[in-house]
Amino acid sequence: MSELPIGIFDSGVGGLTILNSISQVLPNENIIYLSDNINSPYGEKSNEKIEKICYDNSKFLIQKKCKLIVVACNTATTNCIKKLRFDFKVPFVGVEPAIKPASLKTKSGKIGILATKGTLKSKLFSITSNKHTNDISVIEENADELVKLIESGIMEGEKLNSVLKKHLNPMIEMGIDQLVLGCTHFPLVIKEIKKILPKGINVLESSKAVAIQTKAVIEKFNFINQLGSGKKVFYCNGSTKTLNNILNHKFEIIKL
Ligand code: DGL
Repeated sequence: MSELPIGIFDSGVGGLTILNSISQVLPNENIIYLSDNINSPYGEKSNEKIEKICYDNSKFLIQKKCKLIVVACNTATTNCIKKLRFDFKVPFVGVEPAIKPASLKTKSGKIGILATKGTLKSKLFSITSNKHTNDISVIEENADELVKLIESGIMEGEKLNSVLKKHLNPMIEMGIDQLVLGCTHFPLVIKEIKKILPKGINVLESSKAVAIQTKAVIEKFNFINQLGSGKKVFYCNGSTKTLNNILNHKFEIIKL
């Protein structure tokens, strides 16, 4: 069992931010990554549609014999991780916006969340947000447009900058001191985000926490791969261009 791979999926390149953290924490684990970018963006789809897509992605990874699945997408996690855990026997790890740590850290009592519409309108997000943000103002920005830009390979330049400013300026004006990147695509442009933010605004993302949680789960199930080579296999059902660029053309991508 331990030699079997960890499966990771996302609506495209966003999950690579999670894959990187997992590879650092668990360097011997073999990983299968599924870029389901034919269905990108998830954030503008209905809950039912997201559930169906994630069911199919999980089935694909289970057929590839994955011992655990990481849902490397906030939109997918907040919309359907409960259902996936119910439908399949394999353990699942998901990613959610880091609202709790942001709420604990804020001094101004104002936090900003940059996420997709699908995440912001999900039940799980509102439960987590209500639980941790008593007496804290949460400024939500729906940034689906940003997912599309990043997925199409635009990670710097004027267009990206103007979309980032459109979302960040209202939060800055409201006086946030914590910015939560509630979508796994956004850490890919964290440098550009930080250029716009005034000093004093802390940026939070969840990839390290997901990697630590993944390790804890495989340890619990006694699945840990001590001697593996950390082999990575990439599958993609849409355009491979952005994925290939981010991977510096160092890996073969199997086109589905
Ligand atoms: N990476 C996904 C997330 O974390 C992007 C969702 C999308 O495809 O809209 O939410």
